[in-house]
Amino acid sequence: MIEKIKALLQEVEAFRAETHEQVEAFRVRMLSKKGIIPSLFQDFKGVDPALRKEVGQHLNDLKDRATEKVNQIKDLLDQASGPKDGQEHPDLSMPADFAPLGSRHPISITRNRINGIFERIGFVVSEGPEMEDDWHNFSALNFPEEHPARDMQDTFFFGKNPDLALRTHTSSVQVRVMESQKPPIRTISPGRVFRNEAISARAHCIFHQVEGLYIDKGVSFADMRQTLLYFAREMFGEKTQIRLRPSFFPFTEPSAEMDVSCNICGGPGCPICKYSGWIEVMGCGMVDPNVLKNCGIDPEVYSGYAFGMGIERIAMNIFQVRDLRMYFENDLRFLRQFKSAL
Ligand code: DAH
Repeated sequence: MIEKIKALLQEVEAFRAETHEQVEAFRVRMLSKKGIIPSLFQDFKGVDPALRKEVGQHLNDLKDRATEKVNQIKDLLDQASGPKDGQEHPDLSMPADFAPLGSRHPISITRNRINGIFERIGFVVSEGPEMEDDWHNFSALNFPEEHPARDMQDTFFFGKNPDLALRTHTSSVQVRVMESQKPPIRTISPGRVFRNEAISARAHCIFHQVEGLYIDKGVSFADMRQTLLYFAREMFGEKTQIRLRPSFFPFTEPSAEMDVSCNICGGPGCPICKYSGWIEVMGCGMVDPNVLKNCGIDPEVYSGYAFGMGIERIAMNIFQVRDLRMYFENDLRFLRQFKSAL
């Protein structure tokens, strides 16, 4: 009986058909109630018990293969014959459906551009944690104990722990870099920052900054000015002018605020620059010797500059977005407009 089953299995494997009728005839001959395989199952009842296991296995195998074969050939014939009568024929000249392309978020686009501009002159990207301790966010940066920026109004603290907070600026990353690396240091640190502020068209409690830091022997204010001029021209166009206004930050001395000439009106004044011709872009200054000391760098040997800018503000300017809240609403009608921006 085993020989007979094996011969049938060969026949099944070799079977080919070109029409549904041929497949059906094959199915009836092999698998229908009065077909060859069910009749073998009848014969199986009389098989010597010693051989039953082996014969049973072959028989089941034959049945499975025959069933598979019939279904397989039916499927192939169905595919080849296309739609049946009554079904719509596909239009083969129709253009394909393209998978919809996403677009980068305007904040990511702006951050990538800023990173790229500084990477080209040797700055490397470094990152730090969004949850910071008092040392990295404030103390090491020379904030006096009673400084209002540590106040509950500005800082999101964690529960009752006065030592842990969401970082209020990316300047915390400069501390981490200086603590762990030796000069020369050239780094930029993009990231998310948090402040307990009322949300409006110009402010949000979550926003993004890029921090920059350059430490080496003999770094001067003039080096900083030239680097920032290069940045401004790469970012806003080659005709851009910058101006540095005296300012104050606990971690830099001297400190300055940098404005760029309005890239919309080019100087005479427009609603974007509030008719001043200038747009405020970042804070900067020479790293305070106290900060260098706090981070284990000798201020007698090294000096450096630092700067920090808000990505939302810059993105608002280059894309002319009037309301900062749009960046966080994830409205596709807004986001889709940045498809071609890179
Ligand atoms: N951390 C400042 C802020 O959040 C920005 C800043 C100003 C960063 C001056 C600096 C700097 O590194 O030198 O407003």
